[in-house]
Amino acid sequence: MLWFSTTDRYIYTPIREPYKSQERLKHKIIKNGKVWEPNPEGRMAGDIWSFPTLAGRRFRDEKVDHPTQKPLSISRRIVKHFSNPGDTVLVPFAGSGSECVAAVMEGRGYLGFELNPDYVHMARERIVNVRDADRPAQTDLLATLQV
Ligand SMILES: C[S@@+](CC[C@H](N)C(=O)[O-])C[C@H]1O[C@@H](n2cnc3c(N)ncnc32)[C@H](O)[C@@H]1O
Repeated sequence: MLWFSTTDRYIYTPIREPYKSQERLKHKIIKNGKVWEPNPEGRMAGDIWSFPTLAGRRFRDEKVDHPTQKPLSISRRIVKHFSNPGDTVLVPFAGSGSECVAAVMEGRGYLGFELNPDYVHMARERIVNVRDADRPAQTDLLATLQV
């Protein structure tokens, strides 16, 4: 993922992950002569993020018939840390709709585009399925592009 901003007015909230070794945190850690306190929210996420692929029985409810569907865990992290609640997320290549679904789950709106009408249908179904009483329905903004 490449992330650019031409100004310092960007939206990014730090991404934290659980510390690799919970065992090590049980002992006092001295860094540069001072006692180091772990952040309760975990360590800062690095350049390499590890998420399971959507293979196997574990993901049978999430997996749909799109060849490059991304896990919602990744899409939600990106939406959550690079936008604010209530924002609209632009999804120019919606595919199975993972980023649109993530936007709805994280209280954002979405504006999605997808060439293939079958994938638009698939994405719409996924979006409808994650909406519930707690998540106000927004206007359907997933378009099939005709070129
Ligand atoms: C890599 S997939 C996106 C996968 C998506 N992140 C997901 O989790 O399902 C890219 C999608 O972009 C669509 N696409 C390719 N060119 C496009 C275009 N010019 N406009 C809109 N959609 C396009 C393809 O049909 C494909 O479904």
